[in-house]
Amino acid sequence: MRIFLDTANVGEIREAAKLGFLDGVTTNPTLISKEKRKFDDVIREICEVCPGPVSAECITEKFDDLMPEARRLAKLAPNVVVKIPLTREGLKAVKACAQEGVKTNVTLCFSANQALFAAKAGATFVSPFIGRLDDAGHEGMQVIRDIVQIYRNYAFATEVLVASIRHPLHVLEAAKIGAHVSTMPFGVFDKLISHPLTEKGVAQFLQDYGKIPR
Ligand code: G3P
Repeated sequence: MRIFLDTANVGEIREAAKLGFLDGVTTNPTLISKEKRKFDDVIREICEVCPGPVSAECITEKFDDLMPEARRLAKLAPNVVVKIPLTREGLKAVKACAQEGVKTNVTLCFSANQALFAAKAGATFVSPFIGRLDDAGHEGMQVIRDIVQIYRNYAFATEVLVASIRHPLHVLEAAKIGAHVSTMPFGVFDKLISHPLTEKGVAQFLQDYGKIPR
C-alpha cells in the first residue's frame, strides 16, 4: 500500500520525504488555507519535494469551469493530480480529463456506488472519506471493502485512495482490505512507525549492554 500525506505543510512533507516512505501528497483548499501562502506556490513547492502524485483541488463546480481549471492545475507540475468533487458535473469533467490524459483524484466520495461512477469515468484515484463517514455514524471502512471488491470484480484501473484517515487502525484496516493508497495527517504517519514498547526495548537493551564486561 502506498502512503500519502494529507497536508499542505511543506515542513511535514520534507520530514516524511527524508524518511524515504512518502509516496504522494493530497491537499485540499482547507489544508492550503492554513499555510497562508498562495495556492499555486504551495502546490509547486510540494511537487518539488515529493516526486509522487500530488493532488491539487479544483474550486469550480460547472463542467465548463472545471475543464480550464483542471488543465491549468495540471500544468503547475508534471506530478499534479487534479482533484475533482464527485458530482454530476465533476464526473463529466473527470471523463474529459481522462480523454485528455489529465490525471484525476475524485474527491468527497461517500458511497461505493459513487466510486463505481468515478471508475467508469476513468478516474486515476477515488477518495472515499472514511473518517467523515465514521463521524456521521456510518462504517467508513465498509465502503472501502465494497469499493475494493467492485473494482476487482470489473478490473477497474482506478486506485482506491483511502482519505479522511483519523488514526493508525484506519491504515491497518485499509491495508488488510487491499486498498491501493492511504492518505493521512503527519501525526498518523508518525504513529505508524513509533511504538512505546520499541522505545522502551531499545532503552533497556542499551542499559543492559552497559552491564556487559569489556
Ligand atoms: O484531503 C481529504 C481528506 O483526507 C480530508 O480529511 O480529516 O478533513 O475529513 P478530513
